[in-house]
Amino acid sequence: MSEKPWTYESLKQAIGQRSLPLVLVDLRRFDDNIRYFSERAARAGKTIRIASKSIRVPELLHRAISIGGSAVCGLMCYSAPEASFLGSNSFDDLLVAYPTVDPSDVAAVGVAAKRGNKITLTVDCSDHVQKLLTLWNTLGFTTPLRVCVDVDVSWRPVGFHVGAQRSPVRSAEDFERLLDEILATPKLMFTGIIAYDAQLAGVTDANPFGDRRNLPMRVMKSFSATDVVKKRNQFREVLKRRGIEAEFYNGGGTGSFEHALQDPSLTEVTIGSGLLQPHLFDYYRGTHRAPAFCFALAVTRRPQVDRVTCQGGGFIASGATGRDRSPIPILPAGLRIEPLEGFGEVQTPLIIPPELQNQLAIGDPIFFRPAKAGEIAERFAQYYLMEDGKIVDQVPTYRGLDQCFH
Ligand SMILES: Cc1ncc(COP(=O)(O)O)c(C=O)c1O
Repeated sequence: MSEKPWTYESLKQAIGQRSLPLVLVDLRRFDDNIRYFSERAARAGKTIRIASKSIRVPELLHRAISIGGSAVCGLMCYSAPEASFLGSNSFDDLLVAYPTVDPSDVAAVGVAAKRGNKITLTVDCSDHVQKLLTLWNTLGFTTPLRVCVDVDVSWRPVGFHVGAQRSPVRSAEDFERLLDEILATPKLMFTGIIAYDAQLAGVTDANPFGDRRNLPMRVMKSFSATDVVKKRNQFREVLKRRGIEAEFYNGGGTGSFEHALQDPSLTEVTIGSGLLQPHLFDYYRGTHRAPAFCFALAVTRRPQVDRVTCQGGGFIASGATGRDRSPIPILPAGLRIEPLEGFGEVQTPLIIPPELQNQLAIGDPIFFRPAKAGEIAERFAQYYLMEDGKIVDQVPTYRGLDQCFH
């Protein structure tokens, strides 16, 4: 481990006179994180698939794949145009995890497949299958379209649905029906299963911003954790009984990594956020990685002795919005977000503790950690890469490459 603590002075020195705002990635920490996940996965006999949505910077995706080596099986993409873009930039094994029946998406996948990319679309209902089939035929692609089935492993105690509102494929029978529809045509190729446990991977249970929810969330997770394993197994049993060897069985995420590693049904686990470790991922019991990125805003105003106002804002993360979705100021230590304004739109006011009131001047940087990993890349054209306290490179985000995916 290279763990050098970040200090205000070290980060300030690293960014020097560069124009703010900017994003800094600590390469040592990023590398340690990818090593950690890939080594743990390899020891458990599984591979990891990197969630591109949680990175959105091709150079960092390349870096993660090259460090992870054979433990990384490919990328989990969030849209077909994104997968096609990555396919034309020397990435491969691209699993588009969220269904689409958009004609131009399917055309892009067809072109990528023709180019030789291994690219897979996700389905979870007959409508997806039939629409993809019609499009694939109309577009005249001759090789089969690779599809996988997203199954629901949410926890459903009587009358409730605790988990993502995604796939309606809940039982072995639902799965087998859809599988039969896929297998019925040579134009489609069944490749595998996604069984994402959102109620484990996407729910914090040691959250300082919602501490009354932590105990019920832990109870929910302990029931759901056993249930997820059983549910995944019922789908695996269908394949076994039918003698079908899937290429992959994907599940888990940063927030459920350790649990997913123990699940015998899974062949691969998805990891994205944990490579950069935004602050939301500190609020899970279990795996904690070092934060590998932060962003800096400049102090541009001093409205009162105990306040500074920074230029820039609007970096609230997606999800059920709450205080935990806001970035947090980390350095200098002791700053707090002004509760009446929250994290700003184009300006962000902060409350300064007494000991810092004479220390901060106009033009000084303030460093923050975002709540989530990938979304902030939509706000910046480039990320600065830092190694041993020095900036060694700057690399474009999707936005910096003029790519906009949804
Ligand atoms: C299908 C799927 N797998 C895995 C993940 C986990 O990604 P991360 O590791 O970035 O939390 C997500 C996140 O939303 C997802 O939708």
